Amino acid sequence: MRRRRFLQGIAAATFQPALSACMRSAREEEQVEDEEPEGIALQLAAGSINRMYGSAFSEKMLNASSRARAMTLTQCASITPEWSLKWDRLAPSANSTDFTAADAIANFARTHGKRMRGHTLLWHQGVPTWAGEQLQNTREWDVVRSYFNAVMPRYGDIVDEWDVVNEAIEIGHRPDGLRHNQFMEAFGPEYIDWAFWTARDAAPQARLYLNEYGLEYFSAEEGARRLNLLRLLERLKIRGVPIDGVGLQAHLDLRKGKVYREGIYGLLRDITNMDLGISVTELDVREADSGGSLEARDRAVADEVRRYMDIVLQFPNVGSVTTWGLSDRYSWLRYKDGGRRDNRGLPYDDQWRRKPMRSALEAAFLGQQSTT
Ligand code: G3I
Repeated sequence: MRRRRFLQGIAAATFQPALSACMRSAREEEQVEDEEPEGIALQLAAGSINRMYGSAFSEKMLNASSRARAMTLTQCASITPEWSLKWDRLAPSANSTDFTAADAIANFARTHGKRMRGHTLLWHQGVPTWAGEQLQNTREWDVVRSYFNAVMPRYGDIVDEWDVVNEAIEIGHRPDGLRHNQFMEAFGPEYIDWAFWTARDAAPQARLYLNEYGLEYFSAEEGARRLNLLRLLERLKIRGVPIDGVGLQAHLDLRKGKVYREGIYGLLRDITNMDLGISVTELDVREADSGGSLEARDRAVADEVRRYMDIVLQFPNVGSVTTWGLSDRYSWLRYKDGGRRDNRGLPYDDQWRRKPMRSALEAAFLGQQSTT
């Protein structure tokens, strides 16, 4: 408890003035009712065990909500552009790039001393149409190299860690468990090696990560995903590919039961034994399908997040935990195809009131007794 009181003292001295200033304007904007006082800022709780806490951050949060900006500043040590740093956002048409939105988010980070995760370079859902066509027609790597060389150095002052390849695994596509995406079609499985070598050239100081989802539950598919991810990592390490770590997206889902402790622990143990770093990169919870009272749903979310955090924080090489947003108001889970408009899978609700998930994150970082 002494560490908690110490951190509360820091929090009050450090963040209260900034938060109060933003809160006054925010209250008119979003009619926020008084809510329970903030606990220890999540970035401080994480920092107390030498981890970094961050959140996804969008152009909407930057431009439309002083409350979102204020809460991001008080809670987060790092931000991850939710869309603005992807290829299809930076270069929607050939021979032109528009860094306006990405620069705005990067400058927000620079101004406030925050780090930024580089999310993400190669992703089958983030390829602009013109680039996909060019890859298919020419099968030349130059278009990828030009893109990496334009983007990575631009943010080298605040980006320590890039998701170089995102979602490379897909069960049922190939015997090796790799996804048959545009890059695989154009270059074969070595595209992953080339992506890391190209990224190393473009940003020699950065940590280069492979980011993946669907690794948390007891099922044939997620067991196969874990196995094929490890096999891919082994191949990359054997070939001396400059990979530094693995991003675990951690989109938890209450429809799948409770997180599979043994499966997650074994995966992180094997990744660690390959001398790789680990980041939790997109933590949130799909829960709206479960029904029940808001209190019951919020409790179930908090318990699941605590179970997951208690597993991953056993590994000192889990350097950061990023939630895929702070407030349910901005969650992708509410707007994705088949999403649920009332999903409550983030630390704060629509009115920025803290929820049990926020307390669970803080307690996990502080190592407080779990009740799950
Ligand atoms: O802001 C524009 C709006 O002006 C425009 O009218 C509208 C037209 O479609 O698009 C809006 O941009 C959307 C953007 O999110 C901001 O909301 C894009 O269409 C939409 O594609 C984009 O979706 C993002 C998605 O990745 C695709 O990039 C989600 O916000 C983001 O949460 C999601 O995040 C992914 C991770 O990168 C990888 N892991 C899975 C995760 C969830 O799918």
